Amino acid sequence: MIQLVDVYKNLGGKQILNGASMDIEDGETRVILGRSGEGKSVCIKHICRLMQPDRGEVWVNGADISRLKESELGELRKTVGLLFQYAALFDSMNVLENVGFTLFERKVPVDEIRERVRETLKMVRLGDILDKMPSELSGGMKKRVGLARSIIQKPKILLYDEPTTGLDPVTSDAINDLIIHLAKQLKVTSVVITHDMVSAFKIATKISFLYQGRFIFTGTPEETRESDDPIIQQFIHGRSDGPLSNM
Ligand SMILES: Nc1ncnc2c1ncn2[C@@H]1O[C@H](COP(=O)(O)OP(=O)(O)OP(=O)(O)O)[C@@H](O)[C@H]1O
Ligand SMILES: [Mg+2]
Repeated sequence: MIQLVDVYKNLGGKQILNGASMDIEDGETRVILGRSGEGKSVCIKHICRLMQPDRGEVWVNGADISRLKESELGELRKTVGLLFQYAALFDSMNVLENVGFTLFERKVPVDEIRERVRETLKMVRLGDILDKMPSELSGGMKKRVGLARSIIQKPKILLYDEPTTGLDPVTSDAINDLIIHLAKQLKVTSVVITHDMVSAFKIATKISFLYQGRFIFTGTPEETRESDDPIIQQFIHGRSDGPLSNM
């Protein structure tokens, strides 16, 4: 479903991805772990072609997306839903306009948009809040509205960049449940970046660890817990002493 083959990416003179390879199967929920600045966000930007590799291949749903023409990108955008790290809603637009944004762009009739937005809000466990403005919503609700916007086109792949950051533990867990629920209901393949180990172990079918531009470990949550790699152990237990330097 998603495959990175030996991807290299240099940004601002720094080698961020340095031969990164990974293979995600249909229906998986893959969690990506790694330290801040390690290149996790850069990595998922390659999966939706917000970035292109300097070298290497990125296969999504049977196509090497680095070779897609501009005219073929529309289909990719429908296939891949994104929940950004700093998922901003458009502040001057209400929930209907935010969630239905791509449908308004495609000039879908307004009644149909309303119906689909309502249905999508239900999927993220929100009620009829079509007329609310982002400023009237809590952080957790904003995340859900952002998620509704990402899934309204029924994507096959969902990319989540730190979906629970900044939320209280209970709200975070509700988002975790939602990620699991959407994976089942929409049968999507999910890629989730998180620093939240509770989330990681709860939602992942497999966990991959990004270190110095490559994935140095991939395994089930069980295998991750039991890994004898000191880097993995230090990271999942959040210790400052160990092979990962403290800076
Ligand atoms: N467009 C860009 N231009 C230049 N440098 C960039 C760009 N995007 C990212 N970088 C750099 O690439 C590195 C990796 O960034 P990235 O956002 O992928 O890290 P991350 O692993 O997601 O970190 P965090 O956990 O803090 O979100 C950082 O040093 C960042 O400054
Ligand atoms: Mg990031």
